Amino acid sequence: MKVLGLNFGRAMKNSELVLKAALMGAEKAGADVQFIRMMGLDIQHCTGCGSCSRGVANGGNSVCCLKDDYAFVENAMLDADAWIVAAPVYVLGPTGQLKNLADRFGPAHDQVGMDIEQKKRIAAGKTGDQLLDPRYLKQRYGGLISIGGAFTPHWVSMGLAGMNLLMFPHQVRVVDQIDAFAMGTRVNPVLDDKLIARCEQLGANIVSMHGKPFSETARTWFGDDAGICPVCHNRDITIRYGTTRVECPLCGIEGTLVVEGEKVRVEFSEEQQSHSRLRYEGLHDHQKEFEIMRPIQQKIIAERGAELPGLLQKYKDYGHELKMPKKA
Ligand SMILES: Cc1cc2nc3c(=O)[nH]c(=O)nc-3n(C[C@H](O)[C@H](O)[C@H](O)COP(=O)(O)O)c2cc1C
Repeated sequence: MKVLGLNFGRAMKNSELVLKAALMGAEKAGADVQFIRMMGLDIQHCTGCGSCSRGVANGGNSVCCLKDDYAFVENAMLDADAWIVAAPVYVLGPTGQLKNLADRFGPAHDQVGMDIEQKKRIAAGKTGDQLLDPRYLKQRYGGLISIGGAFTPHWVSMGLAGMNLLMFPHQVRVVDQIDAFAMGTRVNPVLDDKLIARCEQLGANIVSMHGKPFSETARTWFGDDAGICPVCHNRDITIRYGTTRVECPLCGIEGTLVVEGEKVRVEFSEEQQSHSRLRYEGLHDHQKEFEIMRPIQQKIIAERGAELPGLLQKYKDYGHELKMPKKA
């Protein structure tokens, strides 16, 4: 079993040390491990050009057209059976580089979209290289370690939730996570025996999942905090309607807020839980959303499409853009 570690922090600093502890735990549990120091790599932001989707639509694989270090990381992520990610909190959430990677990797490898496409190709009699890269469809488990300097948890409030953005579109099932804040008072993670042991345990926990089908592990959770949402185990809740009908912002599922004295919990029905976007059904709902949108778009284009060039003209002619001076 191959476990890939991704370190979004500085070399030999907090994130890397906790990641290495987790990888040592994974190695001890029998895994082959490798890690990548992301900070030294050039991962540009997604430009929304759509070449990855076009590659798949045209019968090939998902290939990003940007020429940077992404393809190297993408290949390692696809090769691995499990991922362990450690990232520092910068301004309440994970570093921008992690989001850049999430934007580039996630939608381009949406596992439900890939599953649908692969089934279409198989039904059409395609074989071998005419099929999608089989690594796109591997079931992977993952672990997350968020690192923060402050000792007040509200200074790392979007750390773990933000790190999940790298995991769910590709259906990497997170079964353990550690919110390692307060690095400022721990001085160095290796001085905190409990934290290091917990990170080693995370590594072993991820290895223990290898080969288990997702259908059998919906309830598996090794994290110290069960959280509010029973699917993603995070604690954030969206009060969208100003009523007790609330949402998990990560899973996109609805629940009912229940207040009992000073205690608050949210009840999510089994049906709602199964439609979390962290699960196949929830991501599939999004694919259906595209299907629903298509005829709506077509109707508007048929009715008003001819007006578009005229309406767009004044936006095209609009000035006021502050441009970068040309380099000498
Ligand atoms: C630009 C920047 C923003 C940061 N913002 C936060 C923050 O919002 N909350 C927090 O707890 N720590 C914050 N930190 C502290 C880092 O999370 C902390 O130093 C961490 O150990 C860095 O990870 P590394 O040691 O693996 O490089 C910030 C650090 C930097 C450089």
